[in-house]
Amino acid sequence: MSDRIHGSEKKVISIAILVSAAHLFILAAAALFYGLTVPDCLEGVKPFTEGSLSQKTDRHYELHMVARMWNFDPAEVVLPVGARVDIFVSSLDVTHGFHITGTNLNLAAVPGAVNYGRVVFGKPGVYPIVCNEYCGIAHHGMYGTIRIVENLTAGYLPAKKDKVPEVASNEPPLVTQGRKLYHEKGCIACHSLDGSQVVGPTFKGIYGRLSYFTDGTSIKADEAYIQESILFPQKKIVKGFESVLMPSFPVTPEEVQGLVEFIKSVK
Ligand code: CUA
Repeated sequence: MSDRIHGSEKKVISIAILVSAAHLFILAAAALFYGLTVPDCLEGVKPFTEGSLSQKTDRHYELHMVARMWNFDPAEVVLPVGARVDIFVSSLDVTHGFHITGTNLNLAAVPGAVNYGRVVFGKPGVYPIVCNEYCGIAHHGMYGTIRIVENLTAGYLPAKKDKVPEVASNEPPLVTQGRKLYHEKGCIACHSLDGSQVVGPTFKGIYGRLSYFTDGTSIKADEAYIQESILFPQKKIVKGFESVLMPSFPVTPEEVQGLVEFIKSVK
């Protein structure tokens, strides 16, 4: 039987077996000695809509990350050197990427699902989080930051960058609430208040302004129109913004009211 196998064929087979064994050994070593794991899609875990950080034990943290057009929540995380972080990632709208630069963690943020991976941050430094899945017009600006700091007693989430500005005390409470939501829900990423066109139409002077839509109709922007645009962003598309897919946000009727009042106030 064995004389049917040519000598050089035997050599090739032996090399193939050796290479396969080496690969298996490398995989086993990575898993056992370096703690490298395969990212997981968790089943039976309810997708969450808000980001959070919690400390489990001294060095062990749990980070819940929400991706959406076009930012991460939380946008910034500060942790001590040596932090072992269980990271759970979900999305509110479309599929985003979630890659922590300088680590081997690269997950997909999928709406309706939760993906999981663990990272141990052994060295201090700045670890940018990038979205590496094309997710729309402002994909290139979608990033977050993890800061690993020495001599830090406990990790925390710094206050949101886009701090809600102080407002005059005579501002109606609904407007103030809407202003807060404008920052928190991320409207600020696409709608400016100063007339500049970012990704979507500016809010400046939008109330009462004539808006032209892709279907040829036009409307003088009133409360009903603004409300509809928040709840059903795809119903009327303003001319010139065809390529932008505004996501709908989970908002309560009360929050919609606040947003409408705030948008009306931006003159
Ligand atoms: Cu999110 Cu690209």
